[in-house]
Amino acid sequence: MSIIILAIESSCDDTAAAVLRDGKMLSNVVASQDMHRQYGGVVPEVASRAHQENIVPVVELALRNAGVEREKLTAVAFTKGPGLIGSLLVGASFAKAFALSLNIPLLEVHHMQAHVLAHFAEDPKPSLPFLCLTVSGGHTQIVLVKNHLEMEVLGQTIDDAAGEAFDKTGKMLGLDYPAGPLIDKLAQSGQPVFSLPEPQVPGLNFSFSGLKTAILYFIRDKSKENPNFISDNLPDICASVQDRIVRILLKKLKLAVKQTGIKEIAIAGGVSANSGLRNGLEALGKKEGWITYIPSFEYCTDNAAMIAVTGYYKYLNGDFAGQDAAPMARMAFGI
Ligand code: KG4
Ligand code: ZN
Repeated sequence: MSIIILAIESSCDDTAAAVLRDGKMLSNVVASQDMHRQYGGVVPEVASRAHQENIVPVVELALRNAGVEREKLTAVAFTKGPGLIGSLLVGASFAKAFALSLNIPLLEVHHMQAHVLAHFAEDPKPSLPFLCLTVSGGHTQIVLVKNHLEMEVLGQTIDDAAGEAFDKTGKMLGLDYPAGPLIDKLAQSGQPVFSLPEPQVPGLNFSFSGLKTAILYFIRDKSKENPNFISDNLPDICASVQDRIVRILLKKLKLAVKQTGIKEIAIAGGVSANSGLRNGLEALGKKEGWITYIPSFEYCTDNAAMIAVTGYYKYLNGDFAGQDAAPMARMAFGI
C-alpha cells in the first residue's frame, strides 16, 4: 500500500503544503506573505493571522494538485520548530486537527533538518554521510548528516545568520525586505571592488555582526565624501558584500572538509538560492574534487516538500507524534 504524506510548513512568513507518495513529490504549494515588505521585516502577529487565512486554501490546492483525496492520506507532517511561535501554532493546530479527523498519525519535523533533507526531494541525492551548509534568514550551520534522521551541527553562527547579513545590508542600502534576492540580482551587474573585513572566528563557527557594522561604517564614510555614493555604486556595493559573505561561507566549508575528510557537500536554505554561492561552490568543488549538491530554487527557500520528505523518513522509522505535540520557537537538533 502507498504511503501518502501531507506536509505543512508555517514557521515564518510562508504558508506551504505538499503531498508526497512513496517518496515522490506530487505537489508543492507556497503562499508567500508580501505584506511584510512595507514593514522592512516579518511582523510575527501579522504572519500568524495570514497563516490562518492561507492554511485551508493552501492545503486544498496541494491535495488538488496532487490528485489525492484526503481519505487516502497515510499521515500528516508539520513543522514543530524552530520558528515564530504564533506562525508555528497555526500549522501545528491545523495538522493535529486534520490528523485527528482522519484518524491517521502525526509526524513532527525540525525545520532545519528538513532544509537539509530537501536534497532527497529530487535527484541526484547525496550519499551518506555528507556535509550540508544550511544558510537561511535565521540560521547558518555546517551539519554532518550521518543518516536521514541523525545529524550533528559542527559549527554555526555566534550572532547573525548569513541571510540576515544580506537583509540588514539591504536595509542600509534602502532595498525592500527580503533583500537577499535583490542584492543577488544587483551584484550580477557589479564587481567586488570594495574590500570588506573578514571576521576572525575560530573553528567552524561563523559571525556576521562585525561585517554588518563594517558595512554600516563603510557606507556612512563613503556617503560623507559623496552623498550619492549608494546610488552611484549600488551594483558594486552589492557585489562586494555578496563576495565577502560567500567567501566566509566557503572558507568554513573547506575547513569542515579538511576536518572530517567528507567530500560530499550540499548547500540548503534560502541563501543557497544565491547565485554567487551556487557558482562559488561549484567552482570550489571542481577544484577540490568534491561532489556538490545544489538544490533547485523551489527547495531552497521555505517549502513543505522538505517537511514531507523528513516526515516520510520519520514514518518509515515509526517516529510518530501524539496529539499533545507542541511547537517550539527554539529547538535543538534531535528533538
Ligand atoms: O530558508 P528561508 O526561506 O527562511 C528561513 O528559514 O529563514 O531563508 C530566507 C532568507 C532571507 O534572509 C533571504 O534574504 C535569503 O534567504 N535569500 C537570499 C536569496 N534568496 C533568499 N539571499 C541571498 N541571495 C538570494 N538569491
Ligand atoms: Zn527555512
